[in-house]
Amino acid sequence: MAERKRLIAGNWKMYKTREEAKAFVEGLTEQLATANINLKEQNSVKAVICAPFTALAGLADMLEVQHVAVGAQNMHEAEVGAYTGEVSAAMLQDVGCQYVILGHSERRAYFAETDAGVAKKTIVAIHKGLIPIVCVGETLTEREANQTQTVISSQMEAVLDELVKQSDQIAVKEGQFVIAYEPVWAIGTGKSSSADDAQAVIGFIRSLIAKRLGEATAQAVGILYGGSVKPDNIKTYLSMQDIDGALVGGASLQPDSYTALLVNSF
Ligand code: 13P
Repeated sequence: MAERKRLIAGNWKMYKTREEAKAFVEGLTEQLATANINLKEQNSVKAVICAPFTALAGLADMLEVQHVAVGAQNMHEAEVGAYTGEVSAAMLQDVGCQYVILGHSERRAYFAETDAGVAKKTIVAIHKGLIPIVCVGETLTEREANQTQTVISSQMEAVLDELVKQSDQIAVKEGQFVIAYEPVWAIGTGKSSSADDAQAVIGFIRSLIAKRLGEATAQAVGILYGGSVKPDNIKTYLSMQDIDGALVGGASLQPDSYTALLVNSF
């Protein structure tokens, strides 16, 4: 099995003004120093914070010092155009983003994002050199109806179809394409998936990638678990064969809990 670098990505959602983001970085700097951690020397773990658009520019500069990368939580697939309220891949790169979350369940539920739309954005992000963190996951009703694999398959196939079509132009390299499995019922509820259940779905996702893009590519894709990940349960997920990290909401908002997530991932 390939040794994939772990990714601990915070998703701040619609929290933090610029001032609050600055206070987070100050707190993080202090916490990392106290814990005697220099992320530059940590080859096994990559830290990322996905912040609201308004906080990104300043944050990328401040976090660079700590070797923490920055990501956005959405983008538009067009290069430029009359798309009021939208932001392009180039604009995200302009403010220092390396990552972008795509197809988060909150965007699928509240902003009508579709599998096809997420697939389009994924291709654009990869072409532009941004690393997409593509989110998939089933609702509680779907899980209870034994539909988990069906739902995950259709969310994944939309993206895989596009990647297959573009396979002469896009070669997925290690760390350049990330999937996050986030069961909708586990997000912000405190009801996390068991590590075994998360591994089962994430192993299934890897098998879908292998079928369409080959085993080598499947082994190069980072697959994260998300949904009520906390400092005290992150290790159980990371001990699973196919789980390469976590996408964390609530516990990424405070410097002490975000530092604890990192410390527990080394
Ligand atoms: P919580 O960690 O707050 O459950 O949020 C998960 C999530 O939606 C990350 O994208």
